[in-house]
Amino acid sequence: MAIDVSTAGGALLITVLRALHIVFGLVWVGAALLMTVYIEPTAERAGADGKRVLRALYRGSSFPRLVPAAAIITTAAGLLLYEMLSYSAAISTASGLTITIGASVGLLAFLHGLFAVWRPASQLSGQLKAGETAESTLAGLEDKIRRNGRVSMWLALISLVLMAGARYIGPVLG
Ligand code: HEM
Repeated sequence: MAIDVSTAGGALLITVLRALHIVFGLVWVGAALLMTVYIEPTAERAGADGKRVLRALYRGSSFPRLVPAAAIITTAAGLLLYEMLSYSAAISTASGLTITIGASVGLLAFLHGLFAVWRPASQLSGQLKAGETAESTLAGLEDKIRRNGRVSMWLALISLVLMAGARYIGPVLG
């Protein structure tokens, strides 16, 4: 359903969706970057103390739910924007094509995050809360989250760069 942005209602709806998309996209990519670039490498260097801090984060905070929730809002708002602003019809323009590639990479980041990172993160959180889980199970989940989290972070970052650059890519390419 295409939206007429020259009406007050249409412009308001798009403004709200854009704000949700950009703010929660920022939370998603920011949290993934912070975790991958700073928190996990620092925890690894800190040894047993670092492991304790990371486990406290997964056991006692909303962090394991924050990133998937932000990603769901970003993706849902992105899909609505894509449909309402008829980007599929603008795919022949440099901006439309860049948004479409960015959206595809964003969807890939979402699906990869869902199955390869957030699911094991939720399992880790559950196991830690239940206690008495074998160390090898916890370490296996932590390793999976760390390895796949890096891939997910790069996908989300590439999507962000394409989205943020799409508007002016046409004039830049000339
Ligand atoms: C990591 C995931 C994502 C991030 C960080 C992100 C970020 C952004 C940003 C910053 C903009 C604003 C660009 C501008 O106004 O110049 C934008 C626009 C847009 N995004 Fe995303 N995005 C992501 C994923 C997606 C996905 C999965 C879709 C759709 C399936 C999508 C659809 C759109 C659309 C259609 C626009 C253009 C909105 C407009 O013209 O007003 N995005 N995105």
